Amino acid sequence: MKIAVFAGDGIGPEVTAQALRVLDELALPGLTLLEGDVGAVAYRRHGHPLPQETLQMACAADAVLFGAVGDFTCDDLPRDLRPEQAILGLRSELGLFANLRPAAGFPGLEHLSSLKPEVARSIDLLVVRELNGDVYFGDKGERVSDGGREGWDSMSYNEAEVSRIAHTAFRAAMGRNKRLTSVDKANVLETSRIWRETIIEVAKDYPEVELDHMYVDNAAMQLVKSPGQFDTIVTGNLFGDILSDQASACVGSIGLLASASLGERQTDYGTFGLYEPIHGSAPDIAGEGKANPVAAALSLAMLLRHSLGREEDAARIERAVEGILADGVFGGDLGGSASTGEIGDAIVRKLVTI
Ligand code: NAI
Ligand code: MG
Repeated sequence: MKIAVFAGDGIGPEVTAQALRVLDELALPGLTLLEGDVGAVAYRRHGHPLPQETLQMACAADAVLFGAVGDFTCDDLPRDLRPEQAILGLRSELGLFANLRPAAGFPGLEHLSSLKPEVARSIDLLVVRELNGDVYFGDKGERVSDGGREGWDSMSYNEAEVSRIAHTAFRAAMGRNKRLTSVDKANVLETSRIWRETIIEVAKDYPEVELDHMYVDNAAMQLVKSPGQFDTIVTGNLFGDILSDQASACVGSIGLLASASLGERQTDYGTFGLYEPIHGSAPDIAGEGKANPVAAALSLAMLLRHSLGREEDAARIERAVEGILADGVFGGDLGGSASTGEIGDAIVRKLVTI
């Protein structure tokens, strides 16, 4: 079993260090860690935010644990050398086309949500977002029109692209409450018509999953009105970008939420993937011990579940995190004063009791 660890910039190394303490406590037999440089750190050492050596390390591993990249001192660099290029490069080079973002209310933290407490408590959903297609990757450009300069981006999805993300989403729904909502805009977009028809076709392979469809504008409204109705959501790159951020705001702090990016490659233990907190490098608090490492610890839990087939260890980490939050171990982002290291200590101590 091999995990590649790319801690990156800003608070990336701080939160990743705590996740690694949790991993150490689990004492998994036969585990090897490979540590590589990404982001601004990699640019300074190797002249590139995603060095070949790092990419090879990822390919040799069963999973990648990623911190965060981004550093304002790199603002003047050309786009292809900026730190953020590391995460985009890893996603495309490793064929990671499915982004999974769970969002669930934590008991006792309802006051942090942008929603009413009783509504916040009801959230327990997973957004499955397609990551390699849609309007982000279509033909784009600028031309001169009667109205002056005009920018254009083309949106497209083919059946193969929709089918593979659909399978990922149905499988994820099977492991949850067996309900899947596909979000599109099939009343207006051709892309969405193909999307919907393909989803319906794939659904035949998963008769146990209850499927429904929702237009994206309605889905955005329903997410704030009654998020408890959702179990698993599958959607394209653009809609998923927006809805997954919206779902996380429903839960509370950005320091609590994890994500997985999965591809088709199977390892001996599960599906190869890259796991990271949803937050960035937070330069405003870097180096001050103020970063909440919960999202990094929960990213590790997702890694153990999806890539290493260690459901029990994953669930133990999740229970430990719930436990310390119930005990009121809060960092600054949750209105408390616990430092990054103290939150890590608390998770490790709780883990021993579970
Ligand atoms: P950010 O997520 O880094 O920070 C937003 C706000 O949330 C800041 O006030 C920060 O202090 C706070 N915050 C974030 N994580 C936290 C944690 N674990 N504990 C407590 N507070 C936390 O987003 P921002 O400021 O827009 O971006 C900063 C840099 O990160 C940029 O260079 C950006 O490009 C990069 N970024 C990288 C990502 C990645 O590596 N996947 C994702 C998002 C942004
Ligand atoms: Mg986003």
